[in-house]
Amino acid sequence: MAKTIAMLTGGGDCPGLNAVIRGVVRSATSRGWRVLGIEDGFDGLLTHGRVRQLDRKAVRGILQLGGTILGTSNRGDPLHYPVEKDGRIELVDVSAKVVENFNALGADAMIAVGGDGTLKIAQRLFELGVNIVGVPKTIDNDLKATDVTFGYNTAVGVVTEALDRLHTTAESHHRAMVVEVMGRDAGWIALESGIAGGADVILIPEIPYAIDKVCAAIMARKQRGSRFSIVVVAEGAFACDGGKITKGVNRTGVERLGGIGQQVAQQLSECLDMDVRTVVLGHLQRGGSPSPFDRILGSRFGVKAVDLIAAGEFGRMVSLRGRTVESTTIAEAVGALNLVDPDGEMVVAAEKLGIMLGR
Ligand code: F6P
Repeated sequence: MAKTIAMLTGGGDCPGLNAVIRGVVRSATSRGWRVLGIEDGFDGLLTHGRVRQLDRKAVRGILQLGGTILGTSNRGDPLHYPVEKDGRIELVDVSAKVVENFNALGADAMIAVGGDGTLKIAQRLFELGVNIVGVPKTIDNDLKATDVTFGYNTAVGVVTEALDRLHTTAESHHRAMVVEVMGRDAGWIALESGIAGGADVILIPEIPYAIDKVCAAIMARKQRGSRFSIVVVAEGAFACDGGKITKGVNRTGVERLGGIGQQVAQQLSECLDMDVRTVVLGHLQRGGSPSPFDRILGSRFGVKAVDLIAAGEFGRMVSLRGRTVESTTIAEAVGALNLVDPDGEMVVAAEKLGIMLGR
């Protein structure tokens, strides 16, 4: 039977979102279904007129584009929606309104593409009776219910290229170059790009670092004739005698990480007899064209999400297990973080390669 499905992208953007949108539209329309695109995440369901039909023409030429043609927002969380009351901003649960507005679209099902926050909202809407399917995204690769998220591979590529470029200038000037990368509480981006980019030191949240050990490692390198060092620091990393560095919270109360690169650089310049510079790669890691891996994974996730709707399997999220796209319940997926195992094979391999992990 012909169906109408609505889809949205929520939370921070990430390379590969457009591949998911295209995958959903191509596979749904080939079944004779109609696809509605909701603009700017759940925000688009709270304000009228922000829904448009997506046909094959609307998704032409978007596979290689970063970002999301639907727009996104990490401010319109309906579970904690900012509402002004008596001159003050209060966070209230407006999920019932989202359900009402979704029902008014006349759609049979919804696909929500997003990270942990978006999936938590999806689970709530499912409990309120919405036929919903989730698609996980994040450059951080920190969701447990899938082996990998799309966007991550592109981010690792961006950081690796940056490290390659920083190597030549660090070596020419005999400097220590501290590179702060994203990842929230997971050190995946730092660890994998650090290995790929030949970093000398990698600091991740899962292994609190001792600055004296980092200094000793850089000095030992200098004594061996390597008068420069590349230090990759995950934004969530912290010293064993310190805490996470934050830049306050965003409008929905989520902590904004950042600033640890500057702190590590300061600490290093106090103990090293060499110039130290800091580079914060920031949102460059989320921008630009998705890698072939992320285009393929995003496309497969989009197709699988439509298959789940066709099979009436709601409250589920697509996931990659090994080399196969499968699904799991959204309830199981949310809140379970995929963190780097400090004693796992990847960390041990990095240490055997001579990379200093701060311990
Ligand atoms: O979750 C993706 C991510 O890029 C994190 O790595 C980073 O901490 C955060 O989003 C930045 O969020 P914003 O775009 O709101 O600054």
